[in-house]
Amino acid sequence: MFGNIKSYNKADNKVFIQYENIMATVEVINPYIINFFVPLHREQRVSKAVENLEVEPCSFDAKEEKNSILITTERLQVRIFDEFKVDIYDEMGRVICEDYRGDRKPAPRRTGDFKLAEEEGHKTAQEQGAEVTIVKKMEEDMFFYGFGEKTGHLNKKGYHYKMWNTDDPSPHVESYEALYKSIPFFIAMKDKKAFGIFFDNTFETHFDMGKENQNYYYFSSVDGNLDYYFIYGPSVKEVVGGYTKLTGRAPLPQLWALGYHQSRWSYSPEESVWELADNFRKRDIPCDVIHFDIDYMDGYRVFTWDKNRFPNPKDFLAKLKEKGFKAVTIIDPGVKKDKGYKIYDEGLEKGYYATDKDGVTYVNRVWPGDSVYPDFANEKVRNWWADNQKIMMDYGVSGIWNDMNEPASFNGPLPMDVMFNNDGIEAQHKEIHNVYGHYMSKATYEGIKKYTGKRPFVITRACYAGTQKYSTVWTGDNQSLWEHLRMSLPMLMNLGLSGMAFCGTDVGGFGHDCTPELLSRWVQVGAFTPLFRNHSAMNTRDQEPWAFDEKTEEINRKYIKLRYKLLPYIYDIMWQVENTGLPVIRPLLLNYQEDGNTYEINDEFLCGDNILVAPIVEQGRKVRTVYLPEGDNWVDYWTKEEFQGGQHIIKEAPLDVCPIYIKAGSVIPNYPPQNYVGEIEVKELTLDIYPPVKGESSSYLHYQDDGESFEYRDGKYNLFEFLLENNNELSISVSTKNDGFNKKYEGLKLHINNVEPSEIVVDGVKVDFDKSEGGIDFVVSLKGEHNIKIK
Ligand code: GLC
Repeated sequence: MFGNIKSYNKADNKVFIQYENIMATVEVINPYIINFFVPLHREQRVSKAVENLEVEPCSFDAKEEKNSILITTERLQVRIFDEFKVDIYDEMGRVICEDYRGDRKPAPRRTGDFKLAEEEGHKTAQEQGAEVTIVKKMEEDMFFYGFGEKTGHLNKKGYHYKMWNTDDPSPHVESYEALYKSIPFFIAMKDKKAFGIFFDNTFETHFDMGKENQNYYYFSSVDGNLDYYFIYGPSVKEVVGGYTKLTGRAPLPQLWALGYHQSRWSYSPEESVWELADNFRKRDIPCDVIHFDIDYMDGYRVFTWDKNRFPNPKDFLAKLKEKGFKAVTIIDPGVKKDKGYKIYDEGLEKGYYATDKDGVTYVNRVWPGDSVYPDFANEKVRNWWADNQKIMMDYGVSGIWNDMNEPASFNGPLPMDVMFNNDGIEAQHKEIHNVYGHYMSKATYEGIKKYTGKRPFVITRACYAGTQKYSTVWTGDNQSLWEHLRMSLPMLMNLGLSGMAFCGTDVGGFGHDCTPELLSRWVQVGAFTPLFRNHSAMNTRDQEPWAFDEKTEEINRKYIKLRYKLLPYIYDIMWQVENTGLPVIRPLLLNYQEDGNTYEINDEFLCGDNILVAPIVEQGRKVRTVYLPEGDNWVDYWTKEEFQGGQHIIKEAPLDVCPIYIKAGSVIPNYPPQNYVGEIEVKELTLDIYPPVKGESSSYLHYQDDGESFEYRDGKYNLFEFLLENNNELSISVSTKNDGFNKKYEGLKLHINNVEPSEIVVDGVKVDFDKSEGGIDFVVSLKGEHNIKIK
């Protein structure tokens, strides 16, 4: 296809390799990230995911060797051959990733009469016409992760996936190749070393991780450029860090967005919302957010309210806010085709909708009936859409839920040649489809930011790589099935590894009827997922936390309250996300890459660095094995029993117990109980402390700011460091690393687990302490530095 190498030259960070048929470019983004590019479709490398690419000036070498060009950075050696075959080695010259040289041989398939089916094997029709295909050699002991929101297990070896944003309402099962999101990124691990590949191509792409043939894996696209990044680790953390350096990191949200969200299709009219809100407060179940599904609108016209059901939305939302409830309203992309409807008329007049190939506004059917599709690929349209957010913000809405933006269509799929204006370049639906939701969320984010000045809360169903900069995501229309609770764990872990740190599922399940037991177990998982929203479809049975019986309600209350207690811990992780890109929900392997036993754990996860959750995800199960990763000790959150890592233990887990383990050496900040974020000003922060193993030390950073504005980016935040050292005695030192936010806590309440001291000395002075729950409690003021000794 490319031919043999004719010549090469190096300029800045790029090496241009002239092949017989085309020129390829290899760009050293930094010593461990390399981009490979061939302009098969368009001359320039234009990315929807990588905005403001930061290329580090770094020294590297390029020279001609026998049959190849060798590029050497501080971390990698990249050999490029004829036909643009690429092999990559580490700094010691050990192979990391090699292109496959043989012929592709799909596994044999048989017709009904046992004849060999076509050679093309299982490949899809589109794929047979793939324009770009990269085939890599599979090693025996490889593991794959990432790919965003996909069904199936944590390790993606042996799966074939398609990236084509798809709204399919039937139950999502393991054989599904595509769902709502397309994140063409994966992490490969071999010999405990990881690298990532980000195939930045918005057309329909395919990833076959050894399904076709176990000797190779490939990625391909029906069109577009050959444009992929190789991101070296060797730690998975470095790969995720590198990928999110390219595509961006989820920004710190407003604190309330981490509270509990209640949704259903739909709470409408107004009275039903009051009943819901009163129930939360009356039943002492915390809740911050109520979601308004499509029935709040006037005939599903976006940016309107149904005045019969909500006669005065502004007053109504203001009253809700007084009670601590923020409103998130759904806004779909489909604009009702309706002369006289302001939004429709305005967009039509300005030519802001996608058209057919002859330039006629394209019409399909969604909730409002015949609808048109804003061309979000066009910056002008995004600005217009951003400005429309003001309508909702003026009503007092706190966040926007973008749905149906694959885009969904009830009257058959949008033809591939529906036309968009991709910021000045004419582009067909087949190129824009996978970034339609991405662009919509970007517009929504920018509008909310412009009109409120606060950190926007956007939730989207469809996305592409990089959408994490603008929006949180939920995993679409799951169902109230145990299988879907089980599947949500690897799905969320892989979304997290794919940059989508702020994500969640519909707790309790969207379609189908939930059961009391399923809801309890799902709430236990939801309490640790960054987006904690219970949502269900119309005509399904009620599934609010109290919808079943008292026992179920009590369990739900317990875990929703636990979530509120852990809010400062989860907020700390979100602050880290903005700086590192590492997710909240983590597969164990992310933190314990040296421990091969963690590579295929589907039913446990870490919430940040310190909490391991091993939920029950099967009906009727009351006991389970838990694997505790090697290298740390783990304390049972409920019984305070301590275990060494590197072993399986058996944990009894009756319905009200979700197995939770805290890493020895942890400091977990806790808030006092409240009905919603900000109900009380937290003057005394509790630190739930789990001493390190004897002879060891550990540290924890706690972050505090106003919880809503962008002022933290100007240094208006506090950062506290807690150092724990367990030698002959346990000592704790408290210091302030940044002192920029003026509403600082006045004091700290320390709860130290599993200690029986005779005295406690704070800054040289003995202080009183109480014994409680297998540990001790005492209070210190938060002025200056402290040195605490537990003797
Ligand atoms: C879609 C969404 C779902 C929503 C429904 C009605 O199915 O995925 O969450 O409730 O549309 O708006």
